[in-house]
Amino acid sequence: MLNRANKNILKIKPYIPGKPIEEVKREFGLKSVIKLASNENPYPPSPKVLKAINAAAKSVNRYPDGSCFELRRELARRLKLSPEQFVFGCGSDEVIVMAIRAFVEPGDEVVIAKPSFLVYSISSIAAGAVVVEVPLNGLRYDLVQMKAAVTSRTKIVFIGSPDNPSGLYPTRTEIAQFLSGFPADVLVFFDEAYFEYINAKDYPDTLALLKTHKNVIVARTFSKIYGLAGLRIGYGMAEAGLAGLLDRAREPFNVTSIAQAAALAALNDGPYYKRIIKEQTSERERLCAAFRKMGVEFSKGCTNFIQVRVPRDSRDVVLGLMKQGVIVRDMSVWGLQNYIRVSIGTPAENNRFLKALKEVL
Ligand SMILES: Cc1ncc(COP(=O)(O)O)c(C=O)c1O
Repeated sequence: MLNRANKNILKIKPYIPGKPIEEVKREFGLKSVIKLASNENPYPPSPKVLKAINAAAKSVNRYPDGSCFELRRELARRLKLSPEQFVFGCGSDEVIVMAIRAFVEPGDEVVIAKPSFLVYSISSIAAGAVVVEVPLNGLRYDLVQMKAAVTSRTKIVFIGSPDNPSGLYPTRTEIAQFLSGFPADVLVFFDEAYFEYINAKDYPDTLALLKTHKNVIVARTFSKIYGLAGLRIGYGMAEAGLAGLLDRAREPFNVTSIAQAAALAALNDGPYYKRIIKEQTSERERLCAAFRKMGVEFSKGCTNFIQVRVPRDSRDVVLGLMKQGVIVRDMSVWGLQNYIRVSIGTPAENNRFLKALKEVL
């Protein structure tokens, strides 16, 4: 049977996610395990969101509203876009998939940075694309080389902003230079999964670009600061015609009614999430100060995770931490043999991680 499988699917190396807490508990006989591996919000959704989830649960005998009408209207109002400029996905992952489905045919090229968020390459390979990888310059995107890599076969350039695992974004000036003279018929996909964490003047205003560029898509998510990773809801924004095209590539009932209700309630509970951003930002500083004290190199970034260079094979370090009940991400999956990535947890979780890391190193 498998010899008749889609050859593009056979080319994909399976995605290795961070290990689930329960699995680590079973494997190492541990009672308490913390997970700092998937860049999730360590806090549960706000009480208002939990209430909305409960209320929506009563109607799950019905299919969801495939258009996400209420959420679409609220986001359009807040972001000063028209409702037609949105497309909703089962996580922003699915917006990436929809863009590829809408544009990429076998043999087309997709340009990405190396390393960058794994879903760009996995989904492109699945569609039969030729993935053109442009190495990072240090840890930053080399946008000059990425533009130079665009050919007449290129359909999409993916820009993680900030990207994962680097945690860094290309600046407003770099993006302006990149877009200057860029072909109008090649899609530029800005993945802004960590948008809400950023507080920087040089961060590109990609929504403003939508007014002038019909080839730009901006994706954001409710999985990170809004703490709804388990419900899977994200969205893309583009010129209305482009958003409509992606919408054609969407499964009719891709976003659940509970996810829609939760996302809407989360948008309306800003102060709860602002407090978490504040705490995560100061915890990021505290973790970095501790790394400096330990003499460990790191890339601070501006998100809810930090890439840390370890003086040994990252797989040993990850295993050592796991034995102490702390799950972090091994970066060797990205080809970075001496790096781990740690998501910023609650202050207590971060203390536990630092203690374990000191012991392991
Ligand atoms: C850069 C980046 N983009 C997109 C996502 C996907 O987020 P989701 O599909 O949960 O919205 C992630 C998740 O870790 C990410 O790191």
